[in-house]
Amino acid sequence: MNKILVATDKPFAASAVNGIRKITEDAGYELRLLEKYTTKAELLEAVADVEAMIIRSDIVDAEVLAAARKLKIVVRAGAGYDNIDLAAATVKGVVAMNTPGQNSNAVAELALGMMVYMARGAFNGASGTELKGKTIGIHAYGNVGRYVAKIALGFGMKVYAFDPYVKDEAMIAEGVTPIHNVEELYKTCQYISLHIPANDQTKKSIGKNLLSLMPKGATLVNTARKEVIDEEGLLAIFEERPDFRYLSDIEPGCKAEVAEKYTGRFFFTPKKMGAQTSEANNNAGLAAARQIVGFLEKGDKTYQVNK
Ligand code: 3PG
Repeated sequence: MNKILVATDKPFAASAVNGIRKITEDAGYELRLLEKYTTKAELLEAVADVEAMIIRSDIVDAEVLAAARKLKIVVRAGAGYDNIDLAAATVKGVVAMNTPGQNSNAVAELALGMMVYMARGAFNGASGTELKGKTIGIHAYGNVGRYVAKIALGFGMKVYAFDPYVKDEAMIAEGVTPIHNVEELYKTCQYISLHIPANDQTKKSIGKNLLSLMPKGATLVNTARKEVIDEEGLLAIFEERPDFRYLSDIEPGCKAEVAEKYTGRFFFTPKKMGAQTSEANNNAGLAAARQIVGFLEKGDKTYQVNK
């Protein structure tokens, strides 16, 4: 019987695993689970005889791909696929896919949740501020950015977005003001919510140059990837601008320094939490299982990212 592996260092909710099991077993496959593994050796062993695998932020590099001798497809149950070595997958003839949009609402709710938490002084009893009437800039208007915009509009925020790949009309139709220049976005907005992927063009692209343009009361919200931040620039802004605050879904490399010097001006999740809801786990996990069955049974390559 052909085997499908779910390899998740950060496991899905049980309901999602049950759903994945049903889809894959009904289609005649054997499902294997590798959860909360602590060493790469465990992953290398688990991939040895599987045809397909579902992962989250788990690293699938050239070594993992080489160990996965029978692998035909790997699906990242989520949006960002910077954890897969796409070139190595292509060389090996392995199809790589993501499940775009499936966990976007969960990530957007976390972004706004962190903003409320910080605006209210971490619920410490002191007088805070409201989001209503404040400006927010969505840096990249993709699936998550659109949900953030929608929820922010519900809070009564003024919403702006920069995304050279999205037409103005699409933003305007959703109550969002398009901005055509990234510097202008940072100049205009008290809150910036990052939704850019991590790749060679974007890594370390958010630093002092952009952050120093933000108006007083600046808050950077990062539910994208920590790698897009230039941490030297981030630390410089923390030092120069006592009004600057940083909210990040996952701790930056410079966490210790920020924690030591800038109490009350940051919040970092200890593990990436954006997609950690049972709804998002179900949406993304089941989509991944269906995509695998669709590919293995019918050759459906929709959502392939290594073309
Ligand atoms: C994504 O790219 O989909 C999110 O960052 C979620 O990642 P996770 O599945 O590791 O929580």
